[in-house]
Amino acid sequence: MRTQVAIIGAGPAGLLLGQLLHKAGIDNVILEQRSRDYVLGRIRAGVLEQGTVDLLDEAGVSRRLHQEGLIHDGAALCFGGARHRINFKELIGKSVTVYGQTEVTRDLMDARDESGAGIVYEAEAVSLHDFDGKSPKVRYRKDGAWQELDCEFIAGCDGFHGVSRQSVPQTAMRTFERVYPFGWLGILSDTPPVSHELIYANHERGFALCSMRSATRSRYYLQCPLTEKAEEWSDARFWEELKRRLDEEAVAALVTGPSIEMSIAPLRSFVAEPLRFGRLFLAGDAAHIVPPTGAKGLNLAASDVHYLSRALIEYYAEKTSAGIDAYSEKCLRRIWKAERFSWWMTSMMHRFPNTDAFGHKIQEAELDYLANSRAAQIALAENYVGLPFGD
Ligand code: APR
Ligand code: PHB
Repeated sequence: MRTQVAIIGAGPAGLLLGQLLHKAGIDNVILEQRSRDYVLGRIRAGVLEQGTVDLLDEAGVSRRLHQEGLIHDGAALCFGGARHRINFKELIGKSVTVYGQTEVTRDLMDARDESGAGIVYEAEAVSLHDFDGKSPKVRYRKDGAWQELDCEFIAGCDGFHGVSRQSVPQTAMRTFERVYPFGWLGILSDTPPVSHELIYANHERGFALCSMRSATRSRYYLQCPLTEKAEEWSDARFWEELKRRLDEEAVAALVTGPSIEMSIAPLRSFVAEPLRFGRLFLAGDAAHIVPPTGAKGLNLAASDVHYLSRALIEYYAEKTSAGIDAYSEKCLRRIWKAERFSWWMTSMMHRFPNTDAFGHKIQEAELDYLANSRAAQIALAENYVGLPFGD
C-alpha cells in the first residue's frame, strides 16, 4: 500500500491532520491501535481556544460544535472562601468554547467516514522505518496479516505512550519533564453544572475544579494524593469532599447525583525536542504533555496540527520545504509558553506536600495579586484563551 502521509494515531491530532490534508488533496492513511469505540470511550478535557475552533471550522467539522458548544466569556478562581471572576471577554476581547474532546473526536471520525478516506483501526505492532531517508515505511499487523505502508512522510500523532517518539534514537532527542506529587480524581455526572462558568478552587484540603460538558452534564475534579485509588471513592465521599473545597454559594447551588465515570489522572509536564526527524514529525501528546490545569492539552495538539498541515500543504503545492524545516521551532515556541502557563496555573492552584510556610504565603500573595490587578488578570486571560499561532 502507498500513501503520501502516514498518520499514526486517531486521537484529535491525527484525525484533524488527516482531515485538513484530505481537504487539500493530500492522500493520507491513519493507523490506530485501538477500536473506534475504545477511542470514543476516553473522557478528556473540554475547553477549546478560538484558534482550535477556527481550525475545526477550516476542517469542516464544526457544525455540532457551534450548535452545542457553550461560549464562556470568563472563569472564576476561588480561594479564601471567595470567588473572583476573570472576565476574558472584557480583558482581552476573546472567549473559549466548552465542548468535550470526545465530541471533537466523534465529529472528526464522522467526517473521515464521509470523506471515504481510511482509518485502519486495531492496527497492531505498528513500527516506523527509514524516516531518515527518502522512502519511509510503516509496518503493522491487521487481522493477523502483516502490512506495509510506503509513504513520503510520517506524522507521529500517537499520544504520550505511542511508538513514534520511541522510534527516534535517544541521542537525537532531548526531553524535559516535571512530575507533580498529586493527581486529579475526576467525576462525570448527569447533573446541571454548579455554575455557568468554570470554577478553579485553591483550598487548604487541595485543589478542586468545577467544569461541565453541557447544561445537564457536569465534570468535577479533586486534587488527591497519587496513592489514592478511584475504587476507594464512593459518590457520596466525592461530593462531600468537593463541598468542603468550594465557596458557600457554590455549596448551596451544587446538585449531586450518581457518577457516570470516576477515575484518577496523574499530572505531568513533558516536552521532547525537536519535533522533526527527517521525514517523521511528532504532533500532540506524542511530543508534549501539560498538566490539565490550564486546559491546554487538546489546544496544543491543534496548534501543532495547524503548523504541520500548512507546512505539508506548502510542500506539495509549492515544492518548498521552508515550512517543514521551520515546523519544530515554530511549534516549540508556542508549546513552551503553554507549558509555562500550565505549570504556573498548577503551581498557583494546588496544595503541594512539603511546602513550607514561606511557599504558602507566596501562593496567597500571588492569588491576592491576581484578584486585584487588572494587569495580572490580562496575563492570565491572554494565555487561557490561547496565544496567537503567530503566522
Ligand atoms: N500505533 C497506533 N496508534 C497508537 C499507538 C501505536 N503504537 N499508540 C497510541 N496510539 C493511538 C492511541 O490509541 C490514541 O488513539 O494514538 C492516539 C493518540 O491520541 P491522544 O492520546 O488523544 O493524543 P493526541 O491526538 O495528541 O491528542 C492530544 O489528547 O491526551 C489528550 O490531553 C490530551 O487533549 C490532549 C489530546
Ligand atoms: C474539563 O472540563 O474536563 C476540564 C476543564 C478545564 C480544565 C481541565 C479539565 O482546566
